[in-house]
Amino acid sequence: MKPERILIFDTTLRDGEQCPGASMNLREKLEVARQLARLQVDVIEAGFPVISEGDFAAVQTIARQVRGPRIAGLARCVPRDIDAAAEALKPAGKRARIHVFLATSKIHREFKLGKARDEILRLAVEGVKRARGYVEDVEFSPEDASRTEPDFLIEVCRAVVAAGATTVNIPDTVGWAVPDQFGALIGQLHEAVPEFQSGQAVISVHCHNDLGLAVANSLAAIRAGARQVECTVNGIGERAGNTALEEVVMALRTRRDFFRGYTCGVNPREIVKSSRLVARMSGLMVQRNKAIVGENAFAHSAGIHQDGILKKRETYEIMDPREVGWGQTELPLTKHSGRAAVAARLRHLGYELAARDLDTLFTRFKQIGDKKKFVYDDDLTALVEGLITEVPETWTLEYLHVTSGNQTVPTATVRLRKVGARKDETAVVQDASIGDGPVDAALRAIDRLTGTQGRLLDYSLRAVSQGMDALGEVTAKVDFGNGEPVVGRGASTDVIEASARAYLNAVNRHLGQQNRRPPANGRQP
Ligand code: KIV
Ligand code: ZN
Repeated sequence: MKPERILIFDTTLRDGEQCPGASMNLREKLEVARQLARLQVDVIEAGFPVISEGDFAAVQTIARQVRGPRIAGLARCVPRDIDAAAEALKPAGKRARIHVFLATSKIHREFKLGKARDEILRLAVEGVKRARGYVEDVEFSPEDASRTEPDFLIEVCRAVVAAGATTVNIPDTVGWAVPDQFGALIGQLHEAVPEFQSGQAVISVHCHNDLGLAVANSLAAIRAGARQVECTVNGIGERAGNTALEEVVMALRTRRDFFRGYTCGVNPREIVKSSRLVARMSGLMVQRNKAIVGENAFAHSAGIHQDGILKKRETYEIMDPREVGWGQTELPLTKHSGRAAVAARLRHLGYELAARDLDTLFTRFKQIGDKKKFVYDDDLTALVEGLITEVPETWTLEYLHVTSGNQTVPTATVRLRKVGARKDETAVVQDASIGDGPVDAALRAIDRLTGTQGRLLDYSLRAVSQGMDALGEVTAKVDFGNGEPVVGRGASTDVIEASARAYLNAVNRHLGQQNRRPPANGRQP
């Protein structure tokens, strides 16, 4: 029997990015989309075009530049949204998918929309028809489907399929479902809509993880007839997040004895790389014990386990870590490595840089090479990603001096340069500040110089590679008082400098945001 293909619809750049503080700029989104293409997902949901100029540009650029997967854009069932999605998706041609949604549950109908069932049906059908006027591939999502009365949900599914929807996605919007019940619901829909059985239309599922059941619900749905799973890398997303892509893919592979007859097209060897890229770009670090992609996912500390692994790996390991891309590090580079060697290693890691970016990167590589004996793949990746996450700079760090100790008041002196300073402005400014520690002192000095007042919401420091001279990478989530926290990143062999760079990166992002037009609409859903 030919295995049934489960389509992997990745919504890291739409639902994942909706998570507070995870917002990415265009270049970061493009890099994630390119990696998703290498991961070989079937569909990339690139954004919600009507919501902001940034989302529109991201969907359009990804549609233009990323080859392979289908590219989807989200829209409410209103003409303005659908038209914007169609426009942004134009460069994807036949690979474009418009994803329209409308809430169907009683609670949403009554309290959010103030609309009766028949009006919801009419709007859903009109939305799908309008989208079909632009593209052949249309997905419809009855938002809060898992809490919708099953008889009405069946009616909606039949109506939107008749109107031309090629995929009907069943969202568990609030993460309320449990596996047996959700599987039964999908089975019921599969039975009730002939097009789901004939393959003319696909049932998709989109689960949120409020009860920690998103992956379990998605797997139950596959066994009941779902042929598309919507998910995000590392399971990022609103509140407790979405179904984790890597967990669904590896459950299908590892337990193929149980999920007999189902396959998916994802290349598992790209999983760890995708996870790290998304963590860095979104600023959402992966917990150490996270399945598949956490630092500890394959670490065995108990002596009995280690002994067993050495005798036969399968005694305690159900997956080979190399299968998901762990441990693919090659011989490290050194400061003697030339530009061509660095470019070749970057290509191997999946980065194709323009000549100007390669020049910048090579200069930074040499600086790191002077400080460290070996430059590992992870160091190189951090340098490239540092380049990608760079924002147009208002301020650059010229000088940092910190004194600290258990008998000293921590003090930082910082010198910054204002990029493109007007003639009447001072281009280079310098100030000093004391603080509760050396990092605090440096950040306070930056605030004094830039006129910002940031509140650190989250701060993480990790060693990028191995050894005492490892690069330290800092991710700082900062609130500048406008309710839109920003994430800054910085790397250096000196952790205080990495912290100052991360904070300054956040300041530059914040100042850059202030210069942009506000979004046309609030975030939805
Ligand atoms: O969670 C949800 O209901 C959604 C839909 C737009 C698919 O994200
Ligand atoms: Zn969602």
